[in-house]
Amino acid sequence: MEPATKPSAQTEDAAIARMDWAELEAECVRCRRCGLCETRTQVVFGVGARDAEVLFVGEGPGEQEDLQGEPFVGRAGKLLDDMLELIDLDRSKIYIANMVKCRPPQNRDPLNIEQEACSVWLSRQIALIRPRILVCLGRIAAMTYIRPDFKITREHGQWTVRNGIMTMALFHPAALLRDPRRRPETFVDLKTLQEAIRSYCTHTY
Ligand code: URA
Repeated sequence: MEPATKPSAQTEDAAIARMDWAELEAECVRCRRCGLCETRTQVVFGVGARDAEVLFVGEGPGEQEDLQGEPFVGRAGKLLDDMLELIDLDRSKIYIANMVKCRPPQNRDPLNIEQEACSVWLSRQIALIRPRILVCLGRIAAMTYIRPDFKITREHGQWTVRNGIMTMALFHPAALLRDPRRRPETFVDLKTLQEAIRSYCTHTY
């Protein structure tokens, strides 16, 4: 039997939904809400401007991210930095986080149960940041933030408004490393993103 003092999942979620940044990060790095906590080196909370107008959401930490505690610092991360530079962005102007904050073993896709357990952290980050634009990096983030049956090959670069936030998906940088033939399409998508930032953001430039 659980001790009477252990808060229910709903109480815990409600508490998280009220946290400020300091509390949120302190609680998140101690998270044991799913099995990924058993194999992680550390939680990868997120990085960037906490008042960013543009939020990028990836899938989950890989090996380097798990070791260094920062999203997108491996090979895919280097490509993401190059993509940002193409449209005059860098990590100081945006916020970057992942669907799950702990590395899935062997870099497998995060399971639905892991994404659900972790979603409370990113939801609170989004509520605190209040971005105007959300960019999904790859299919996994797009299936949550755009539509469960989202097809990245057909729908990348298309805008949709979800909860008042302009949202689109780019091919994941790791997918672009595997299949460089997708890069010209991604260049077009990045230019679309740049235009949207110029039209709808007030302090990103
Ligand atoms: N891939 C992701 O989706 N996120 C990272 O942080 C690194 C690689």
